[in-house]
Amino acid sequence: MNPETIDAEVADRRARRRRFKLLFLDRESRMSLQAQLTTQIKEMIRSGHLASGDRLPSTRDLAADLRVSRNTVVYTYDRLISEGYLQSRMRSRIYVADTAPALQRAERERGRRQTIRVPASVPAAGGSNAPVPFRPCQPDVQLFPLDMWNLLRNRALRTSHRSLLHYNSAAVLGLRELRENLATYLRESRGVRCEWWQVAITTGSQQALYLLARILLQAGDRVYMEDPGYQGAVGAWRAANADIHYLPVDAEGVVIPALADSAAKLVYVTPSRQFPTGVSLSLSRRLALVNGAADSATWIVEDDYDSEFRYGAAPLPSLQSFDVSGRVIYIGTFSKLLFPALRLGFAVLPVPLVERFQELKSVVDDHGPMIDQATLAAFLDTGAFYSHIRRCRRAYAERQRSFLEAIQKHGLPLEFRYTDGGMNLTGFLPADYDDFESSARFRRAGLDVPALSSYSGRVAERRADRFSGNHCERGLVFGFTAFTPDRIRRGVETVVRTGLR
Ligand SMILES: Cc1ncc(COP(=O)(O)O)c(C=O)c1O
Repeated sequence: MNPETIDAEVADRRARRRRFKLLFLDRESRMSLQAQLTTQIKEMIRSGHLASGDRLPSTRDLAADLRVSRNTVVYTYDRLISEGYLQSRMRSRIYVADTAPALQRAERERGRRQTIRVPASVPAAGGSNAPVPFRPCQPDVQLFPLDMWNLLRNRALRTSHRSLLHYNSAAVLGLRELRENLATYLRESRGVRCEWWQVAITTGSQQALYLLARILLQAGDRVYMEDPGYQGAVGAWRAANADIHYLPVDAEGVVIPALADSAAKLVYVTPSRQFPTGVSLSLSRRLALVNGAADSATWIVEDDYDSEFRYGAAPLPSLQSFDVSGRVIYIGTFSKLLFPALRLGFAVLPVPLVERFQELKSVVDDHGPMIDQATLAAFLDTGAFYSHIRRCRRAYAERQRSFLEAIQKHGLPLEFRYTDGGMNLTGFLPADYDDFESSARFRRAGLDVPALSSYSGRVAERRADRFSGNHCERGLVFGFTAFTPDRIRRGVETVVRTGLR
């Protein structure tokens, strides 16, 4: 090489190093040096400081200038090459890649879109998600025996020799031990007729509802739904574009139409304790429902979400236990018995539905979380489950008493008709009260007391004027299980101070 070429090469090398003087690495930062370097070189490309074809300093020079190890620069260049920002040409010289401008544009676009449209549903940071009085359907997570749970979890992990950590597509409907233990519990305590392989473990009962809607319903199929009723179920039927017909609820539970003439594909009911009113379905209506379904090939979805919480009497047998023709699909959840974030529920499927349910479930999530299922199987097997239910039942019975005593002292115009159990008490209001307005006032006073009408699908769809529709009475739904008697009393004082409209 002649001296002029050497001089030009040196000048060129200096110029290259000078351009990179603007890089600054913060050694106090929590971001690694490599990550800082990567971001800053991308920024130089994005801002136009480096253009396609520009050559970068050698790894040795840049490492020396920045006083970092050469590996830091080597890894940074490798990463930017793999992302398409840089390319390596002859004799391992590094250049800004031809694709870099397109990447810059894409990133700029992405950045612009992100700043414009953050959906309103994105949750804000922080904040407590603990329920405030009197949010319905909330178990008291303080009562849950976490130490015992963790013990059983550790034991399950140890004894499984890490087999719980693999994919396990064979367990798409749940871990076999859990399905077996659950089937035993459901047979003994709820009279459910089933074999263990009919029990499908789902991500909360909500997933069971969704999957059932998908396998049983075509767009336009008629579904009968309690009104007021569980809006989670309404959501599932709507997702299948079903034609939802709302059934009124009276003192004997949901009013059952003659199924044989109705062409209904599916009826959703909460017979043990109607949600949210709390009324139990009378025996004559239970029989009418299962017999009607048998004659008309209608499916019944029985949602048995909180029947264990019956105070002073044994839980009622399930509707499924009356069903001899296999039309009832029994669903339940551990959200209330254990804790909601567990997201474990189940469906007991009539034999002809097992395979279709399994096929769809495998498309949705392959299988549910194995470690929690193994822990729950042990929780049932060791009896810890039963002790926990007994403890909750005692605490919740006392809380229900505290609530009723506190509220009845004040002569409010609320009528509590169904008080034999459950997690909520519905106070019915006289017809000239506005439950939406009362609920909004309570919300401003720091309470969470939903209006009974807010559980009405007809009101939500504006098919009924909430003041004239005879389907849904007005009232307020008070959950009491997650709050200590003292908190309940203070909550009731706020109710009294705020007043009803
Ligand atoms: C009637 C009814 N079914 C089911 C559930 C529970 O659903 P998941 O198992 O999805 O938590 C609730 C919860 O509030 C409910 O009120």
